[in-house]
Amino acid sequence: MTDVADRAGAGFDREFGGSPAGRWAAPGRVNLIGEHTDYNDGFVLPFALPLRTVAAAAPQDGARWTVWSELSGETIEFGADEVAEPARVTGWGAYVAGVVWALREAGHDVPGARLAIASDVPLGAGLSSSAALEAAVMTALVDLGGLDLPAERQPRLAQRAENHYVGAPTGIMDQSAAIRCRDGHALFLDCRSEEVEHIPFDLHGAGLAMLVVDSRAPHRHADGEYAARRRSCEAAAARLGVRALRDVGVDQLDTALARLDDPETRRRARHVVTEDQRVLDTVALLRAGRVREIGPLLTASHVSMRDDFEITVPEIDTAVEAALEAGALGARMTGGGFGGCVLALVEVDAAETVASAVAAAYAEKGFQAPAHVTVLPAPGATRLD
Ligand code: GLA
Repeated sequence: MTDVADRAGAGFDREFGGSPAGRWAAPGRVNLIGEHTDYNDGFVLPFALPLRTVAAAAPQDGARWTVWSELSGETIEFGADEVAEPARVTGWGAYVAGVVWALREAGHDVPGARLAIASDVPLGAGLSSSAALEAAVMTALVDLGGLDLPAERQPRLAQRAENHYVGAPTGIMDQSAAIRCRDGHALFLDCRSEEVEHIPFDLHGAGLAMLVVDSRAPHRHADGEYAARRRSCEAAAARLGVRALRDVGVDQLDTALARLDDPETRRRARHVVTEDQRVLDTVALLRAGRVREIGPLLTASHVSMRDDFEITVPEIDTAVEAALEAGALGARMTGGGFGGCVLALVEVDAAETVASAVAAAYAEKGFQAPAHVTVLPAPGATRLD
């Protein structure tokens, strides 16, 4: 397959004629650690993937947006009416229209545009293809219109697009990763202040590799379950009289849990509070260059998601167990849950052995064969030309 940027450019030429004014790329992400902490005002540590979505774009007159997507093969068009209120454009176009809506709602004079979109980020694998699309479109429109919107303020607007226009109650992690990540680094993000620190994440230097296994598990009820987890966390925070679960430290955990009557709410809160601490511990190890020591934290995160937050599925647990048995230093599900991908931190020359062990465990259980790839931290959204 040709390069994704070439495909976006060629798509533009074919659908609209002529050359685009530029091409903008934004990556998918994996989250190293810090799951379901973002909407609890907590900490996350994602890094960008070398898989990207590219928007080739040029301005057009008036408040009109014409968008071709390689994936659907169709061209959609919408105007001021469709971005006056949420949800008027549906399907994949909602992510594009949502960005236009959010920018306009924040007072920006969004230029009309033609956009051709191509992507290497697989859909439905939990790698944030939607945030990559939002980020590619947002950076394109910001540049084309010369909008006064620095990168650090873009994720919140992209999240608004997703929350209010598309209607998914996600946190701010994925859009932050797509926009703010740096090559070779993980993004340590405080989801309350939106402050970031770029943490060097030199897998190669440590003789390690990060294996990403696509579980191929169908997302079962993921949307409803995600919203339910969010409600539980908010209920726990309200019961504890704090703004968000981020405000409960691990040293206060036992006292806090004793005040929650419902055992399920207690488990949910325990996951979030301990997960925030695992992010801080992971960051401390990475700052000290002790990369291989983060393995147990990754695995502990998985156990917490499996037993306390209850967002894993049999395929995912099988992949994690098989990876650990085959010698991975740590393994965990990454992303919102109920399917998606597993990360396994492995010695660089053990990656294929671990991947084969996961495939064998899958075959034994009769699951659809998993896919895998090794990745290094890549850059966030950038203008290509
Ligand atoms: C999804 C959401 C994020 C985050 C993760 C879980 O990816 O989009 O905001 O909540 O799940 O960590």
